[in-house]
Amino acid sequence: MNMADDESGDGQLEARLAEQEAFEPSDDFVEQANVSDASIYDEFADNWPACWTRAADLLDWDEEYTQVLDDSEEPFYEWFADGTLNASYNCVDRHVENGAKNRVAIKWEGEHGETRTYTYQDLFREVNEFAAALRDLGVEEDDVVTLYMPMVPELPVAMLACARIGAPHSVVFAGFSAEALATRMNAAESRYLVTCDGYYRRGDPLDHQAKANEGLSNVDHEVDATVVVDRLGDNGFGHDLQRNQHDWDSLMSAHQGDRVDPVERGAEDMLFLMYTSGTTGKPKGVKHTTGGYLAYTAWTSHSVLDLEPEDTYWCSADIGWITGHSYIVYGPLALGTTTVMYEGTPDYPDRGRLWELVEKYAVDVFYTAPTAIRAFMKWGPEYPAEYDLSTLRLLGTVGEPINPRAWKWYYKHIGGEECPIVDTWWQTETGGMMVSTLPGVGTMKPGSAGPPLPGIGAHVVDTGGDEVEAGQAGYLTVDRPWPGMLRTLYRNDERFVDEYWQTHSDADAGEWVYFPEDGAKIDDDGYITILGRVDDVVNVSGHRLGTMEIESAIVGVEGVAEAAVVGGDHDIKGEAVYAYVILEDGYGGDDEMRDRIVAGVDDAIGPIAKPESVTFTPELPKTRSGKIMRRLLEEIANGEELGDTTTLRNPEVVSDIQEQASGD
Ligand code: WT7
Repeated sequence: MNMADDESGDGQLEARLAEQEAFEPSDDFVEQANVSDASIYDEFADNWPACWTRAADLLDWDEEYTQVLDDSEEPFYEWFADGTLNASYNCVDRHVENGAKNRVAIKWEGEHGETRTYTYQDLFREVNEFAAALRDLGVEEDDVVTLYMPMVPELPVAMLACARIGAPHSVVFAGFSAEALATRMNAAESRYLVTCDGYYRRGDPLDHQAKANEGLSNVDHEVDATVVVDRLGDNGFGHDLQRNQHDWDSLMSAHQGDRVDPVERGAEDMLFLMYTSGTTGKPKGVKHTTGGYLAYTAWTSHSVLDLEPEDTYWCSADIGWITGHSYIVYGPLALGTTTVMYEGTPDYPDRGRLWELVEKYAVDVFYTAPTAIRAFMKWGPEYPAEYDLSTLRLLGTVGEPINPRAWKWYYKHIGGEECPIVDTWWQTETGGMMVSTLPGVGTMKPGSAGPPLPGIGAHVVDTGGDEVEAGQAGYLTVDRPWPGMLRTLYRNDERFVDEYWQTHSDADAGEWVYFPEDGAKIDDDGYITILGRVDDVVNVSGHRLGTMEIESAIVGVEGVAEAAVVGGDHDIKGEAVYAYVILEDGYGGDDEMRDRIVAGVDDAIGPIAKPESVTFTPELPKTRSGKIMRRLLEEIANGEELGDTTTLRNPEVVSDIQEQASGD
């Protein structure tokens, strides 16, 4: 029997591994780890918030701060507020000045195997030249620059160039649609765009510029300048540059050799904005600042990812998401590490592609998502087995819960049973990792992220705010601020307080509690297992999508009267989008309609949000008060036995929907 096809139980995993519930890091790992003493938990607890100087000390400050935390206006916390620094200086210049100019900063590999290598000196040169170009285009301090770019090295160069001149960037994931780009540029009133002609996906060039131009045509205000990177060369789509559009290479030539002094930024000045999905249809502009965010990503890269300047480190995420911001760009570069960037997908040209790159670049630390691991598992261990993965020292995962079986597969087939695994829980809003074992300190328990990191006040509570007993499900909360936290939602302080601080705080008593909207449980050792979102957010392949956003895209399709979207279980993606749709009279629920709905979601958001299944129904299950009972739709999507339906106003629709759904 082909082992790749073996889906039963724990497959080929040895019985010993299958039953083992706790794992220890090897002595070799512990010996070399950046953090290996459990006393760090007490050190942080006893010395809070001053403990966070440890993170700030990883940076070079222009002006030292005098106060670690200012909590005078809760929940608008400020960190290191009177200190000043520049993120680009910290990620680039200081390594050049400290004798590491020839160390590799970025190793880039294109889908077809082209490579580009940037030493810190190369990065310094390009960041300066592009910073000069941005200034020349009129970008001033505090102007938001939108970066709608795929995984090309010009993306981190542009991010750092923005940071250098104090212009916050707002990166929009390249897989998002033209409409999503326009929404984000409008929300931030961003007048500058850096984009790309295209990129490769599974062998084919994609026309990104057409999407960017379409997005631009829907921006409500004047866009002063757009810069277009030429990635495709002769394989491009031949778009002419429009008014106010500039070619990246020509700008760089025009500014060859230019130097721009890094702007001294206040620690609380905005470093970037990142839009993420929430409960309503409108994406939230999460605001991160210069001092706290950079200190926090550097600290967690040091303590959790165990990064050393000599390491070659690879996070396989896309920079268009927070994982890439924090752990491809800012954290690793702040520490002077070599960070790997890969343009393509894991299965092109074949399923060994990632392991080929681990071998080729002798990767020391590898960080990926459970969805990828589940795909590797399905493909089978013969792919990684073909390559020498012995340079790996540490593995990490992020984005969604990892089931113990996938954890153990990763441990055995990628880590050779020698690398600790860090299962890191965090969010766009937290800026960096919050719950994880420290690889040089803690016991690992597959399926559980671990205890809160030192200094992080994470708890699992019931609706009344009391800590739940071990093993009971509750809500994850955080009752102390931390340097990497979001400061607000861009231009919407009210929504910031509503979304994150309302549910579990007791404002009158001065107790402010952050609510990440995840369910969780905790064990006797204080290890936290994340159970998933408790709001209307689905997590598809580790990507966060708002059901409301998808619903409004579907309702925008001609002929659709009403729609409800839920997340259903999916073997590889973790969750997939299931849509239930009521059509207007005169429209039929046929394949053509289904295609139009899927295309509508693709246009409004992007391919990742496309429904896995569309079920047509004359009615949606509603409570007497008229609320759609999503729980039932989830149960139908998962083919589960249905829970209580007695509160339904229209219980008879349920069996109709079930029949329809199973007929898909
Ligand atoms: C949501 C945040 C953090 C970068 C990637 C996603 C889920 C994240 C884990 C984990 C279980 C996880 C949570 C969280 N999540 N990491 N290790 N175990 N769930 O960032 O798009 O802001 O999504 O991802 O539900 O709230 P994001």
